[in-house]
Amino acid sequence: MAATASTATFDAAAVAAQFPILQREIDGRPLVYLDSGATAQKPEAVLRTLDESYRLHNANIHRGVYTLAQEATDRFEGARERIARFVGAPTAETIFTKNVTEAINLVAYAWGRRNVGPGDTIVLTPMEHHANIVPWQQLALEVGARLAYVELTDDGRLDMDSFDALLERAPKLVAVAHVSNVLGTLNPVEAIVARAHAAGAVVLVDGAQAVPHLRVDVRALGADFYGFTGHKVYGPTGVGVLHGRRELLEAMPPFLTGGDMISSVDFESSTFHELPWKFEAGTSPYVQATGLGAAVEWLDALGLEAVHAHEQALVAYALDALTEVPGLTVYGPPAEQRGSLISFALDGVHPHDVAELLNRRNVCVRAGHHCAQPLMRRLGVSATTRASFAAHSTRADVDALVDGLHDVRRVFRL
Ligand SMILES: Cc1ncc(COP(=O)(O)O)c(C=O)c1O
Repeated sequence: MAATASTATFDAAAVAAQFPILQREIDGRPLVYLDSGATAQKPEAVLRTLDESYRLHNANIHRGVYTLAQEATDRFEGARERIARFVGAPTAETIFTKNVTEAINLVAYAWGRRNVGPGDTIVLTPMEHHANIVPWQQLALEVGARLAYVELTDDGRLDMDSFDALLERAPKLVAVAHVSNVLGTLNPVEAIVARAHAAGAVVLVDGAQAVPHLRVDVRALGADFYGFTGHKVYGPTGVGVLHGRRELLEAMPPFLTGGDMISSVDFESSTFHELPWKFEAGTSPYVQATGLGAAVEWLDALGLEAVHAHEQALVAYALDALTEVPGLTVYGPPAEQRGSLISFALDGVHPHDVAELLNRRNVCVRAGHHCAQPLMRRLGVSATTRASFAAHSTRADVDALVDGLHDVRRVFRL
């Protein structure tokens, strides 16, 4: 049955109707957007807020005394409060960045350069996005620290015994993805944080693939730093978030410096603003922040628990449906240990060709190394094809993917 919604209580087709771009047709066919892991499409509520922010409330924030500037400031700071509440974090510990990449770099520079030294260990996992590898490589190069990687199990989970063994080296930092952007693995972050803390390590969690899909409670997880990126949470590009523990943030020097992040500036020296503004140099993405605020409000109205249940059911449906495609290898763990994405390979066809042929049916998937080249090496492939889901994804979308894959096999005479 090609149902349009995957759970009785969640009407994904009605959700899809809220996305103007999903009403588009290309060459007379509807769009089947299965690349939300790369960036999410934007619902009307977000587009409307962005439009209103520019159209009716635009003025630079924090500086002007006139009403318009106060409105813009209130909308920006209101969005911060809204976003902080969404993930259970204190407002003062919620810092706006450009994206999660910048959030991680902020920690690598401002915390890392002060707290990691020669011979220290930084623990990473092989399933990290480059954004959570390269900043630590650069830090390690600069200060003479070492990187150590947790082993993976064959079904793409973290081997917790190997993690425990690495903790015996008393690492300074553990940096881990909440959900892998390739394997889809949902990592046991709470357990990782507890064990890392017991070993004296600070923990940074890259929440880019988690926050759009499951209820994240930053305080309950206990991570010292938790970052995510706005454009994957149905918000606009150009805004991301770093949550950090107050004691750590207060002890850190600023990352970027200049206007807005200061308390006072003299010819020779400056003092810095309090949290969170100490880490927000220059004009902030204040309009984008209002869009992200609207996005999390929209997600909350849908009910993140319902969204999560819907996407989990859809991933289970897709994993099942993909077994019908001969010669298809799926990477990563079973549905219950996954976020909302599936990477796969089709025997005898390059992932780029798979994506290209699916594109002829307007099925949008991602092919490549997914900014995770070390993981590709570990999997013994150069690339995979990835389908990633969102609140608006339906069983019909999965059926279109599976039909498209059968077609790819026909084209390649497999
Ligand atoms: C797990 C993960 N981390 C980090 C990033 C980087 O996000 P951004 O480019 O928005 O900083 C991505 C984006 O694909 C991701 O999936």
